[in-house]
Amino acid sequence: MKKFLLLCALSGLAFAANMHFEKNQKCSECHPAIYKEYQTSQHANATIFKDKIHGAVYDKHPQHWKIEKYRCGACHTPTADNLSELLAPNNGVIPDIDNETQNEAVACAYCHRIEDTAPGKAFGRNIVSKDEKVYFTKKSNPGTSPFHGLKTNTKVFENGKMCMGCHAHKSNKKAFDVCETDINQMAPKKNCIECHMHKVDGAPHTKSTETQHTFHGFPGLHGDLTNLSQYIGMKITNTDDKQMFTVTIDHDVPHASLLHPLRMGKLEVSVARDGQVTKMQTRELIKVIGSKEGASPSPTPPWLATDIIKDTRIPANTSKAYPYKWELKSGDVITAKFGYLLVKPKALKKFDLQDNKEATKFRIIKEQTFTVK
Ligand code: HEC
Ligand code: HEC
Ligand code: HEC
Ligand code: HEC
Ligand code: HEC
Repeated sequence: MKKFLLLCALSGLAFAANMHFEKNQKCSECHPAIYKEYQTSQHANATIFKDKIHGAVYDKHPQHWKIEKYRCGACHTPTADNLSELLAPNNGVIPDIDNETQNEAVACAYCHRIEDTAPGKAFGRNIVSKDEKVYFTKKSNPGTSPFHGLKTNTKVFENGKMCMGCHAHKSNKKAFDVCETDINQMAPKKNCIECHMHKVDGAPHTKSTETQHTFHGFPGLHGDLTNLSQYIGMKITNTDDKQMFTVTIDHDVPHASLLHPLRMGKLEVSVARDGQVTKMQTRELIKVIGSKEGASPSPTPPWLATDIIKDTRIPANTSKAYPYKWELKSGDVITAKFGYLLVKPKALKKFDLQDNKEATKFRIIKEQTFTVK
């Protein structure tokens, strides 16, 4: 029983008192384009009510059914007006769909009040400014707004460190990191903000004459993968004797190809000859967490995991070659599709997500065809 009283003692003091944040809706008055993009993002939809996958995992989590705790709220609903009660066990307080402040999810004002981030034991920590209506930007000379103050904060807004309070890692009670963004510090050609908040057309606010702003749809595996696809390369080659071919995925990203243990990456390959299509073996990219105790390593839910028992993901800034043995002929057409599933098939049933379209859809980031000479 004791092992269920898990997921770590509170790592920070940041959540000690409930803070007040301006509503997302308020920002829409003067930042309509950014607000519209943001509404489509996982940040705006991170609650158990709007994100059915998060909801499904919380549903099965002992924090829910055993101790009525929603520690997830520290990152999924950080502006809840009863956050400290949500984070505490055994007080009958769990997420409430009628609480407006919980539905704000990862709110605009929360992010823009992150002064700094710090490492934490169970997960990283956001140091949030007490100034309710002063927002941080990386611009060194911000103008003025009739609604709020602005402060330059290049320390964390320029290099993406402001993302790390929530994204660095999350460990369970056994001090095992269930998720981590293992950023490759040796190859920081680009940072989180440059890749996940690219520039798009449109003014950042209604009074602005600027023609571009940073995109707030935060593309990741749920959304449109068009922009992120530039960081994934694919090459198909065959050997001279035509007995073999190779699909190489160049993962030019400073973190591993999948960050959440629920995910699966897939490489689907087929060869077409005279109208006949032959499917090759699908290659799967997964990180399986579980336990190495007992006779053989076995998968467990995240709250019980102590080890990585299998990892076939592509590491940061790495190319991986996938060879296929096949007698090719001139004119054969090889098609390769690389993409992701939000929930790996083996986990679907465990979380009752078999019929969830979002969870089961194959999201292709790169597709290529190659004709054998
Ligand atoms: C009444 C209009 C108004 C409202 C409401 C408003 N803003 Fe602004 N905001 C502005 C204006 C005007 C600027 C531009 C200042 C300048 O010229 O740099 C601005 C600038 C900003 C910037 C800095 C942009 C930059 O250039 O780097 C941020 C961040 C920001 N607002 C966040 C918010 C958030 C978050 C909300 C909602 C909680 C919000 N704003 C609500 C008018 C508004
Ligand atoms: C330290 C911050 C943090 C905490 C605490 C946290 N999460 Fe998350 N969670 C994240 C981040 C960041 C992501 C996005 C990761 C990604 O997409 O790789 C995420 C994504 C998820 C997803 C995937 C959602 C989807 O739509 O695919 C699930 C499921 C999830 N979290 C469940 C939980 C549960 C259940 C809890 C509480 C027991 C929890 N999380 C606590 C930060 C956190
Ligand atoms: C060079 C561009 C690039 C940079 C820099 C980058 N990412 Fe990514 N990120 C990607 C791509 C491409 C994907 C799609 C998945 C993959 O890696 O194959 C992705 C996926 C993700 C996902 C979804 C993973 C999942 O399993 O659901 C999250 C969350 C994420 N990135 C967060 C971050 C954070 C936080 C940083 C900064 C520490 C960062 N990224 C830096 C390109 C980048
Ligand atoms: C997950 C964190 C996060 C959330 C949520 C978020 N922002 Fe931002 N925002 C950033 C970062 C990072 C930047 C880029 C760095 C900068 O310009 O300071 C940025 C930039 C901006 C800018 C300047 C854009 C430009 O190109 O000049 C404005 C204005 C802004 N945000 C307003 C908002 C509003 C309004 C919302 C909600 C509708 C919002 N932000 C939600 C992190 C966030
Ligand atoms: C307050 C915590 C918090 C902060 C700060 C934060 N994130 Fe997130 N982020 C989350 C959570 C929680 C999720 C998962 C939401 C879900 O799927 O339910 C997430 C999901 C994502 C995803 C995955 C989207 C997808 O389609 O799967 C990306 C990409 C991402 N964040 C990028 C960023 C970047 C870039 C920053 C910094 C500018 C940032 N985040 C800052 C909490 C945060």
